[in-house]
Amino acid sequence: MSDKLIIFDTTLRDGEQSPGASMTKDEKLRIARQLERLKVDVIEAGFAASSNGDFEAIRGIANEIKDSTICSLSRANDRDIARAAEALKGANSARIHTFIATSKLHMEMKLRMTPDQVFEQAKQAVRFAKNLVSDVEFSPEDGYRSDPDFLCRVIEAVINEGATTINVPDTVGYAVPELYGNFIRTLRERIPNSDKAVWSVHCHNDLGMAVANSLAGVKIGGARQVECTINGLGERAGNCSLEEVVMAIKTRRDYFGLDLGIDTKHILAASRMVSQTTGFVVQPNKAVVGANAFAHASGIHQDGVLKARDTYEIMRAEDVGWTANKIVLGKLSGRNAFKQRLVELGVQLDSEADANAAFAKFKELADRKSDIFDEDILALVSDESVVHHDENYSFVSLSQHSETGERPHSTVVFTVGGVEVTGSSDGNGPVDASMKAIESHVKSGAEMVLYSVNAISGNTESQGEVTVRLQNSGRVVNGVGADPDIVVASAKAYLSALNKLYSKVDRVAAQG
Ligand code: KIV
Ligand code: ZN
Repeated sequence: MSDKLIIFDTTLRDGEQSPGASMTKDEKLRIARQLERLKVDVIEAGFAASSNGDFEAIRGIANEIKDSTICSLSRANDRDIARAAEALKGANSARIHTFIATSKLHMEMKLRMTPDQVFEQAKQAVRFAKNLVSDVEFSPEDGYRSDPDFLCRVIEAVINEGATTINVPDTVGYAVPELYGNFIRTLRERIPNSDKAVWSVHCHNDLGMAVANSLAGVKIGGARQVECTINGLGERAGNCSLEEVVMAIKTRRDYFGLDLGIDTKHILAASRMVSQTTGFVVQPNKAVVGANAFAHASGIHQDGVLKARDTYEIMRAEDVGWTANKIVLGKLSGRNAFKQRLVELGVQLDSEADANAAFAKFKELADRKSDIFDEDILALVSDESVVHHDENYSFVSLSQHSETGERPHSTVVFTVGGVEVTGSSDGNGPVDASMKAIESHVKSGAEMVLYSVNAISGNTESQGEVTVRLQNSGRVVNGVGADPDIVVASAKAYLSALNKLYSKVDRVAAQG
């Protein structure tokens, strides 16, 4: 048995299925570059047959990312599988991941198929995929709640058809560690050809046990691939978090005895990039990547860490990419210093025009804020006006008046399809007035289901990063905006959400 643990990242597929987290092709490419820097073994880039946008994103990633295996999900039918193979054509190393539900509940209620029909379709799908690529992964969806006898029959058959990885999803996050670990071990012991495939775990976090279950699947069950996402992003309570599972395996190498290919120094940048792109803020007490993960506030702890750091620290902050909040650039920094910092942060802009737009934004920011931190630069390059020139709505300027005892009033100037328009409104506060000012012109009728503000570098001088989640006709989108003025950041976030709301995405749900 190999003692290398394969890290399969599904941020761009299962993570993206989280309501509001859908990403554009450019956003996916940027995250894929960061995952490659992190040395993730397999990147599940999307679900090619779900939409043209996802197909193009997978194709773009397969053409550019060369150090990781690129994977597309596909349902167990020829059309989906052919679409996945087509999108993956440019990859150095391509994988098709095909799945079909095997639990009684899913087969009867969702698929309306008999077990024999599912068995035949699973075999047929793997056979078809195997003619197109050599690396084929098969997942029995809702595997953990499936009848073990039926599961053994299906898995044995798909391995005979050439499946090289068998992934056992706990689709609804129902498992507990010991039982899930034993479940995987039993399957491996009972299936005669189980040694012909790599076994993989895929756990959802509905009961907060996705990481623990995945680790049990590895330790007890003998799995050698973990499917996970940055920040644990994913539907409902999310997926197994990459940073937690990786740091557990690394920090407790004495117990797990496994090697990883991951370059952990890039974890924090990946976490920030995913959070800024999707608008899913990382909670401060989140393990490894939360703002408090390495902060020692209590006097006793501080004293201990100063005397000997391992009194309270089991990992080194710098090993996952934390550095002291340092001033990296300022008003006098030139174009080259700015570009150099982008390279060091792993940010690659698509063209010289993008680099110039980003530099102009940087200069504007440096005029208003004397110290520029890495976090500011990352927020700046995620700004819609730098990376998306073709967006319909774009912020221009804002003026607002608020005074104790008076109802605040705001006027927002923005462009719609390149044409400047102005909206004005009053509201309960300056932010509310600004949102209503935009809405007075756009009339989207969308419902705001989330509004949050986060100080990027932790104090009142910092930029505010605002997330706005809008819901309209069953679609949920997140918009993100950053600015030292949180009212402006809010207006930018609202426009960014409107852009997403009106972008044409007709998606087929993976679990649908
Ligand atoms: O959770 C799940 O079952 C999945 C499969 C499609 C692998 O994401
Ligand atoms: Zn899943």
